[in-house]
Amino acid sequence: MRLIDCGVLARTPVSFAVLASGSGSNFEALVHASRAGGFPGSIALLLCDQPGAMALERAHRLGVPAECPPVGSRRTRIEDERPWLDSLRAHGIQAILLAGFMRRLHSPLLEAYAGNILNIHPSLLPAFPGLRSIERAFEHGARVVGCTVHVVSEVVDGGAIIGQRAVEVLDGDHVEGLTRRVHEAEHKLYRESVCRYFGGSPHLEGRRLVFGSPARHG
Ligand code: GRF
Repeated sequence: MRLIDCGVLARTPVSFAVLASGSGSNFEALVHASRAGGFPGSIALLLCDQPGAMALERAHRLGVPAECPPVGSRRTRIEDERPWLDSLRAHGIQAILLAGFMRRLHSPLLEAYAGNILNIHPSLLPAFPGLRSIERAFEHGARVVGCTVHVVSEVVDGGAIIGQRAVEVLDGDHVEGLTRRVHEAEHKLYRESVCRYFGGSPHLEGRRLVFGSPARHG
């Protein structure tokens, strides 16, 4: 399979896996998007690190294969990623969509899927990376919050940005209401970003992803 300069697969349809730890509302939105047409592939697998996660119930209801490979004893990473890689390969997965997956990826997953792992984060990066982003932005008094879809790199929440959506903080807002509106924005943004990234021909100019022809210099 041909890879273009930031590593994205140059051929569709793409077979995607979603990795999730919790509710899985983004996973479900992606499954619906993939079945509605105009999506550059299918959601062929859910991998989950929490056997009790609601994401697994959603997968069952939606008829998407789901597995919980072993995670080991570490809290913020997968101790041995090889069983996860085996599972992805056994299902013919070509790209990974992280959706509320609470562990950092390392070797060998990052190398095996370099440029083909996306993540959604509930802030307008580079503001508020890490945990509790919506609460921290609200407590900070931000007037505009939002969400970002980016390519996953070794730097947490630090890879090239594919798309962002802004959500205005209203007078009288509370964290719960704001969180709900950010999640609604996420569901649309993830679909748009997957279509844009895998359906187009992105290339990197510096750390900016550009979706048109490469710029000519000189
Ligand atoms: C989302 O806010 C996403 O941005 C963050 O984790 C949350 C997952 O929500 N990474 P859900 O499990 O998709 O409902």
